[in-house]
Amino acid sequence: MKLVVSLINVNKLYGEGENKFYALKDISLSINHGEFIAIIGPSGSGKSTLMNIIGLLDKPTSGKYSINGKEVIRFDEDRLANLRNQKIGFIFQSFNLLPRTSAVDNVALPLIYSGVNKENRTSKAKEALIRVGLGEKFNSKPNQLSGGQQQRVAIARALVTNPQIILADEPTGNLDTKTGEEIMKLFTDLNKEGKTVILITHELEIAKKARRIIQLRDGKVVNGNN
Ligand SMILES: Nc1ncnc2c1ncn2[C@@H]1O[C@H](COP(=O)(O)OP(=O)(O)O)[C@@H](O)[C@H]1O
Ligand SMILES: [Mg+2]
Repeated sequence: MKLVVSLINVNKLYGEGENKFYALKDISLSINHGEFIAIIGPSGSGKSTLMNIIGLLDKPTSGKYSINGKEVIRFDEDRLANLRNQKIGFIFQSFNLLPRTSAVDNVALPLIYSGVNKENRTSKAKEALIRVGLGEKFNSKPNQLSGGQQQRVAIARALVTNPQIILADEPTGNLDTKTGEEIMKLFTDLNKEGKTVILITHELEIAKKARRIIQLRDGKVVNGNN
């Protein structure tokens, strides 16, 4: 088993003095290559804080964090940005698409940062859109697409760099039950193709689709670590 994500005694502290608040308390967590994990917990339990740390968007206040055996705490912003761009695909509850931009151009965006030329960007973006079932919607703008289709565009954008890890924060939170299930099927398929999938949710029904459930409460892992 190849260890992808390793957190050891991670804490995240917000505020100072009287306002000191630990959003994460002494989290130790190991995630292997090819796992499909759901992180579940009520609102305010620290799920997004944990995802931002795993995804290199934020740093712990203390503790150790490594990705693929590389200790990232001391990495500077540029190195973190590079690693993030190469290894991680993000998906959010609110899709975060550019509103006046076509599906293809939304999906191609991360490739600009990795220096891919225009022609290759377009062909990779089209491939990713076909992968998520949107082969007919290359030129549609977000407001011409349903919520489920917009989330598929966002998933294609996360896939276009061929990342090792897919990190999704409440990806079905804005979708109806049936559309949410279709999106979960897509994550299941991506996991079967070898992606490590880490999905955050507050809904048990969604979490049950994952192969391991990690439960957070008040910033602590209360269940599911091994
Ligand atoms: N930038 C911040 N400054 C201060 N407190 C924060 C900040 N971000 C999150 N928190 C607090 O940390 C706790 C966990 O937040 P979050 O990780 O967003 O929880 P969840 O995603 O599980 O709803 C909450 O109590 C929240 O108010
Ligand atoms: Mg959250």
